[in-house]
Amino acid sequence: MKYADVLIIGSGIAALQLATYLSRDMNVIVLTKSSIGEGNSPYAQGGIAASLAPEDSPFLHYTDTLEAGRFINRTDAVLKLTKEAPEIIRDLVDRGCDFDVDQNDNLLLGMEGSHSHKRIVHGGGDQTGKAIVDCLRQHVGDHINIKEDTLAYSLLLDQDGACCGAKGRGSDGTTHTFLASHTVLATGGCGQLYSFTSNAASATGDGLALAYQAGAKLTDMEFVQFHPTLLYKDEETKGLVSEAVRGEGGLLINESGEKIMENVHPLKDLAPRHIVAQTIYKQIENGHNVYVDISGIPQFSERFPAVTSLCDKHGIQIEDGKIPVAPGCHFLMGGICTDEVGATSVEGLYAIGEVACTGVHGANRLASNSLLEGLVYGKRLAFHLSNTPLSPIRKPVIKTPQPVLPVDLPSIADIQQRMMRGAGIVRTKETLLDLLQWLEEFRFEVHLEHTVDSCNKEQITRLFMLTTAWLITTAALQREESRGGHYRSDFPFEKKAWESIHIDHHMQIRKG
Ligand code: SIN
Repeated sequence: MKYADVLIIGSGIAALQLATYLSRDMNVIVLTKSSIGEGNSPYAQGGIAASLAPEDSPFLHYTDTLEAGRFINRTDAVLKLTKEAPEIIRDLVDRGCDFDVDQNDNLLLGMEGSHSHKRIVHGGGDQTGKAIVDCLRQHVGDHINIKEDTLAYSLLLDQDGACCGAKGRGSDGTTHTFLASHTVLATGGCGQLYSFTSNAASATGDGLALAYQAGAKLTDMEFVQFHPTLLYKDEETKGLVSEAVRGEGGLLINESGEKIMENVHPLKDLAPRHIVAQTIYKQIENGHNVYVDISGIPQFSERFPAVTSLCDKHGIQIEDGKIPVAPGCHFLMGGICTDEVGATSVEGLYAIGEVACTGVHGANRLASNSLLEGLVYGKRLAFHLSNTPLSPIRKPVIKTPQPVLPVDLPSIADIQQRMMRGAGIVRTKETLLDLLQWLEEFRFEVHLEHTVDSCNKEQITRLFMLTTAWLITTAALQREESRGGHYRSDFPFEKKAWESIHIDHHMQIRKG
């Protein structure tokens, strides 16, 4: 058994930012199922949005964020985020982050979809996530205790339902118990629920399932963002082709050279992501191939080294001037409902980064607002926890583990294909009901409550994926309109009445 003032579950940018800003006299454990800095964060290409140009302002960043989010965002949260963005960039510069600059050392600002101004700060061309992770890792002091290769599989609750730590499972099957005054979920998203995704293999929705299992409130789970342009080869997606490519002049065309975003939206190739993704999806459904035409972008490989090496790896010649693309799951706007510092509805439990739903993204996240959110909330939570008196460690209620129920869990590939078909870019009542019926056969709630202790890492992952898939599916079924990342072809329009409605999930926990 290990004790911590703060237990951080996850090791991406939000987790590292939190760890680096927590008071140095706190006892901190970072628990990760992979290795420090792995996961989605180092793959982030585009950058971080911040209104730094003289003609730009936090207010314009705010209005762009609301427009992309289709006005279901929490406006107070967006206002604060966009105001704090320039300071977050200055902090990173002061900490030595290697952002791209011009010959006078001024930050270079890129353009991405739905932004009214150039405001995307980037590093290593299209390797911004890596630049930030490398910087933050250098600031994680020796006092931080890092436990790698251990999957958190259950949150510990005391008899009043407050969180007091977590249990983890190592690859060798060993169980580790961590007791903590404050437990923070920073586990990232769930792109791996879908067979087409930009996300790392580790993005399996763990934190969402853990929070649900602990009785925390989750919200907006139907809002899943599909990134329009993933490299597409042999009927599989292979990784991200950054939106910044279109920001630099890349154009979406089909095999006849037709510009597919003409007459679809006034912003054409830089329209909001859900519009572009849905347009590409329809083209592919109608038997077309879609490409990003990069022939007009000078020195493509220098500006986009990560996209260039991805193409090289998969035998796509950049010199041909076009990259085949298809949309894939990229980001979850919904998640664990949190307040402005990251507190959840369960005492002692916090969430930051993609796993949290702070309300800033609404129904569709504006490009390059995710690294920003993780960094802003990581820092805010660090100051909050550093200034909160530590409560005595609570005593967890220990449940007697029960043997695994005789139900075979489906394979990961099966879950991914079913989610693509049932709760993908286009959903209907029929596809969602069919999926829901299939998901419920596996009795994941019973497993989560009673048998997870007896599962190995691989079974736990599938259980977490089923749980998160169910949360998305039930929310998508309830929202009878289309808004942002949630498109129902049986309810194809936005409805004003739904603008103020959020769909919540809340598992009832039996208290000790
Ligand atoms: C991209 O580079 O296109 C992704 C950036 C983001 O999701 O904000």
